[in-house]
Amino acid sequence: MKFTLRLVVAIWVSVLVVIAGFAVLQVREERARLVTDLERRAVLLGEGLKEAIEPVVGRGSATAVERILKKFGRPRRGIAVYDRFATLLVATPDLKPVLPPSLPEVTEAIGDGAVRQRLTSVGGRPAYVYATPLFRDDKPAGVLAVVLDAAHVDDAEWAVGRQNAIRFLLLALVVSLITLVIVRTTVIQPMAKLSEWTQALRRGTPLPPPEAPDARLFGPLAHEVSSLAKSYYHAQSAAEQEAALRLLGDTVWTEERLKQFVRLRAGERPLVVVSNREPLSHVRRNGRIERHTPASGLVTAMEPVMRACGGVWVAHGSGDADRQMADARGRLGLPEDDPRYTLRRVWLTPEEEAGYYYGFANEGLWPLCHIVHTRPVFRPEDWDHYVGVNRKFAAAVLEEVEGTEAPLVLVQDYHFAMLPGLVKAERPDARVAIFWHIPWPNFEAFGICPWQRELLLGMLGADLIGFHTQYHCNNFLETVERTIEARIDWEHFSVLRGEHETVVKPFPISVAPEFVDEPPRTSREELLRELGVSVEFLGVGVERIDYTKGLPERFRALHWFFERYPEYRERVVFVQLAAPSRSTIPRYQELQREVEDTIREVNQALQTRSWRPIIYLNRHHEHREIWAYYRHADFCMVTSLHDGMNLVAKEFVSVRDDDGGVLILSRFTGAARELRDAVLVNPYDIAETAEAIRAAVEMAPEERAARMARMRRTVREHNIYQWAGLLLSELTRIPMEVAEAKDA
Ligand code: G6P
Repeated sequence: MKFTLRLVVAIWVSVLVVIAGFAVLQVREERARLVTDLERRAVLLGEGLKEAIEPVVGRGSATAVERILKKFGRPRRGIAVYDRFATLLVATPDLKPVLPPSLPEVTEAIGDGAVRQRLTSVGGRPAYVYATPLFRDDKPAGVLAVVLDAAHVDDAEWAVGRQNAIRFLLLALVVSLITLVIVRTTVIQPMAKLSEWTQALRRGTPLPPPEAPDARLFGPLAHEVSSLAKSYYHAQSAAEQEAALRLLGDTVWTEERLKQFVRLRAGERPLVVVSNREPLSHVRRNGRIERHTPASGLVTAMEPVMRACGGVWVAHGSGDADRQMADARGRLGLPEDDPRYTLRRVWLTPEEEAGYYYGFANEGLWPLCHIVHTRPVFRPEDWDHYVGVNRKFAAAVLEEVEGTEAPLVLVQDYHFAMLPGLVKAERPDARVAIFWHIPWPNFEAFGICPWQRELLLGMLGADLIGFHTQYHCNNFLETVERTIEARIDWEHFSVLRGEHETVVKPFPISVAPEFVDEPPRTSREELLRELGVSVEFLGVGVERIDYTKGLPERFRALHWFFERYPEYRERVVFVQLAAPSRSTIPRYQELQREVEDTIREVNQALQTRSWRPIIYLNRHHEHREIWAYYRHADFCMVTSLHDGMNLVAKEFVSVRDDDGGVLILSRFTGAARELRDAVLVNPYDIAETAEAIRAAVEMAPEERAARMARMRRTVREHNIYQWAGLLLSELTRIPMEVAEAKDA
């Protein structure tokens, strides 16, 4: 039965039951009232007449009785008098023809000498009979019967029934109509829209869910369906991609391939990743909790890996609403709408954060490893916090791997140099790798760190140490060779200390081929309209405000370009997306001012009434927002003074499926070793960078497309899944090799 029909039938039955119940009660009451009325009238008449008739009957004068009855008899009110043998003596004319030979009430009244009365039927009509015995000298002399017409009692019952039937019909009709309208507008129509939407999702058209009139009813459903459709669509495209790659005999790493690979190599062992920065932070803004994806190359790279491999990501819970959004152990599933891995947040005190993160990691190690002429600051109390926080994270990692045999631990970056040693000391069976996301300087530069020995020993606790380039590996091995007692195997690039071997290898990090899942397809026109500009050429830069990124140098190069080539004024606009970073550190505050001053100077010197050369968007931007800038820019500038890899360069390339756009790339980035088709520059050389801008805007479309196509191939092949696959493959292989080496 159809849903609406079922609903209507249910309504009708309910209305019927309720109205019938009330009708029965009403009929009973009405009947009781009418019968009482009949009784009262019969008693009055009967007893009144009895007084007059008793002496006359006693005398046996039928004529006298007849005279009295004539006086009192009325239509619908009959009177009859019987003798003591229940033989009819006299009856009123209306009654006489319909009277039966004997009335039970009369016989009974004679029998026991008491009044008998009831509602019955006389001559086929409902009647109320009141029979009262007559006496003479205390002896039974006969019976007086009053017979009142009671047809109106039945009529009244029918009337009540009729009224209620009409009431039932009207009520059922009105309620059914209202229900049908409500069902139509709040269930059927939204369901139809939802089903159209799910069909579109199934076809792979990602539309936003339709507006549901009752968000509480349909909101959760829409949410579940869209997650389901997303997973389905994802699985479908992964399968298609896999099949296509297999046909082509292609060896490109995909999310699916990495997933299978990890399952094969790691089995049930969960992967544990540790980093300072968390992949998602919850922050309070205007009384609401917002979700932030931090501006961090590390997060951009590791998030897709965790989605593919699952496991636990241990990181600092730095958002002010982070505790509220995690369980008592600081855990939550991510992505929130379709959890694939667990984020384990570690809580730090403001003192720990200041000493370990801002102090030792970012005022000490960061400028130590980036050769950008910012002097590192090493404070003993910062070092103590650094060691303390490394211990805290080690405790969290040990808790997470408890009960897992030979767990796989991937430590990320310069915040955790001590962690591999700490974990290995407790769990020698763990397979630990540390990946250093920033450059490693030469041994002389590194040698100024007062705790260089401790840092190296901590790192060498790992089975595998990864850098972006072979050059950084060599610098590291040389630093070890000159600082501590260890044997360097330059042939296999490993360090042997006692029984323990640490392999040191380059793993150039990258991005996922689809750097943003389902990007909002903003057109170039829409983007320019949003920016309020109308120009021929759009340049873009995307950075954290960091002194390693060469921001002031870039703006000076732009100034030079417009000075040198004034024909490009009002035709080129450069948009700088700049995320505030590490802003409590004085050097970063100073840089923020320098960046703003430089932009102001350039703009003031060149701007016209309708044009400004640099648009500065100084706030955090989510990946989805950045996508449109990458996709529609004519050139992207990455002019870091020193950079381990730089994923902005690879993100830019990865979204250019139109083979458009030119990448201007600093030769001092790790990325410059792979993206040879970028226009490479020395960012310190303002004139060279300005020439690169000119080359970018003047590049012939064919050359631009050819260069971009080659770079895209590189980024597609050397993607983040390959990075993780190679790293994990190396890590899971190491113990076997060590065992074999020992056996030999
Ligand atoms: C560099 C580091 C990353 C860090 C990122 C953002 O890329 O190698 O580890 O996540 O900068 O810096 P932040 O201090 O904001 O995490």
